Amino acid sequence: MENLILAIESSCDETSAAVVKNGRQVLSNIISSQIDIHKKFGGVVPEVASRNHVLNISTVVAEAMETAAVSYDDLSAVAVTYGPGLIGALLVGVSYAKAVSAAKNIPLIAVNHIHGHIAANYITHPDLEPPFVCLVASGGHSHILHVKTYTEFEILGRTRDDAAGEAFDKIARVIGLGYPGGPKVEALAKEGSIDAVTFPQVEFSDNPYDFSFSGVKTSVINYLHTKEQKEEEVNRADIAAGFQKAVVEALTKHTLRAAENMGADKLVLAGGVSANGALRASFEAAARDKQLQLFYPQPVLCTDNAAMIGCAGFYKYKSNDFADSSLNAVANLKL
Ligand code: KG4
Ligand code: ZN
Repeated sequence: MENLILAIESSCDETSAAVVKNGRQVLSNIISSQIDIHKKFGGVVPEVASRNHVLNISTVVAEAMETAAVSYDDLSAVAVTYGPGLIGALLVGVSYAKAVSAAKNIPLIAVNHIHGHIAANYITHPDLEPPFVCLVASGGHSHILHVKTYTEFEILGRTRDDAAGEAFDKIARVIGLGYPGGPKVEALAKEGSIDAVTFPQVEFSDNPYDFSFSGVKTSVINYLHTKEQKEEEVNRADIAAGFQKAVVEALTKHTLRAAENMGADKLVLAGGVSANGALRASFEAAARDKQLQLFYPQPVLCTDNAAMIGCAGFYKYKSNDFADSSLNAVANLKL
């Protein structure tokens, strides 16, 4: 029988709704971004995000249903991101999904946002199946995971401080590029030399897969201060290129190390940072070298969207893993 899931995502600054058929077929994926609203504050303001989700959600869900050309009576379930994320923002999606579930008497599925990012790959690559090693690099997370099945994950490594995307956003701010930082740093880095300035990479002796990105951020700030004190010109493109190189190399090296040690033959990238061209090129080269198959989502599915939540929700549906009306949002939800 045909499975149709209405999915809702509101964990940060995108209000998104999608209708997904049989797990991997996206009938609609409406994403209403609040970037223009938060830009003037230099980053996401949680309370402003929540209020805008409230304003947008009904329209976004209606548009997703209309584009998919399905009726509420056709739906098999409603899936929603319940964490991790901004608590007020998450609550808007969770409340809406609970209301749809109650009004239409259809099952409710609670999806972990990180599972969603991984599942984005199942949409782009219809034949991809676990097990594989996955790097999830987003604004809030940098994890290396062993994805054992569609619903079971083991954390191999993680950041001990800033997430990779967070580092991109912070560097963008200190070199005056504004929010959102990732794509702006990537664009500027193309004009710079990757060898002009070298920033540090961190290794931990007790876990060879863990990351740290706060050191590279401090190092960029110190570099700028020193240049300022000496009244020397700074080349912002060289800084962007050197910073991006340090982050991309660390992500590639640690993930490849994990894939090799796990004996994996498939390597998967996920999360907002996986949209980065330099990251993709670095992983392409490394995967070719080690004869690993490499997968990453199409650009629109790298950053936050509801289609990926619908796909992750489908696999919870198949394992009869449903939530009830007591579902609450969990800001610091673990994997
Ligand atoms: O997955 P995502 O949309 O939201 C979270 O779950 O956090 O990721 C957003 C993050 C931001 O930090 C953004 O700067 C980063 O992904 N990002 C990028 C690029 N596009 C988005 N970082 C580097 N290069 C990019 N092209
Ligand atoms: Zn995300």
